[in-house]
Amino acid sequence: MDKRQLRKGINEKRKMLDENYVKIASEKIVITLQNLSDLKSANTVMSYMPYGNEVDIKPLNQWILSQGKILCLPRVISPTEMEPRIVNNLERGLYKSSFGIFEPTVENVLTDKANIDLVLVPGLAFDKNGNRTGHGSGYYDRFLSSCKKRTLFIGIAYTFQVLDSIPSDPYDVKVHKIVTEEYTIDLIKL
Ligand SMILES: Nc1ncnc2c1ncn2[C@@H]1O[C@H](COP(=O)(O)OP(=O)(O)OP(=O)(O)O)[C@@H](O)[C@H]1O
Ligand SMILES: [Mg+2]
Repeated sequence: MDKRQLRKGINEKRKMLDENYVKIASEKIVITLQNLSDLKSANTVMSYMPYGNEVDIKPLNQWILSQGKILCLPRVISPTEMEPRIVNNLERGLYKSSFGIFEPTVENVLTDKANIDLVLVPGLAFDKNGNRTGHGSGYYDRFLSSCKKRTLFIGIAYTFQVLDSIPSDPYDVKVHKIVTEEYTIDLIKL
């Protein structure tokens, strides 16, 4: 199976998910994340705003703010790059990008990637070795490869998105942990 086929299959499956399943699985994932020591000890977290049926971590984003942590969200700045901007208020300040994803604006303060302790990484497919496939633009591969060595990457997915093995290229960046509604996979952080 190549990446293209893999993306198509999972995308179709995710689009078909029942609203209630998305809600319940997302709530479970949020609770697991809130209880992770990695998240408890992180000061600056780069999260994401869910698009379509992606795992809904909006309540976690709110929780991150309520804990006095610094929340960053990605802002796409070119067809290949995104940057982390600090968000203090999730109701105000975000705007819908041309892709339909809520993003910070240039009014939001840009942060140095060196400050990021943890990145919550969305994806279409992951495997048990931490490999990840996204939508195919390389945004996350570029972003994660420019983060510091100490920064922890946690992949967020429904269980059906985690396969035994997925195709990967040398530029694909692996995650250090995967959290689904059913389990957490710990991979080695080198
Ligand atoms: N660090 C990098 N520097 C330059 N180009 C990169 C880098 N990482 C990936 N790319 C390019 O990005 C393109 C898309 O990569 P890939 O198909 O793995 O996307 P993806 O992982 O599914 O997408 P995303 O990271 O946005 O979720 C590839 O053609 C690759 O050449
Ligand atoms: Mg990739």
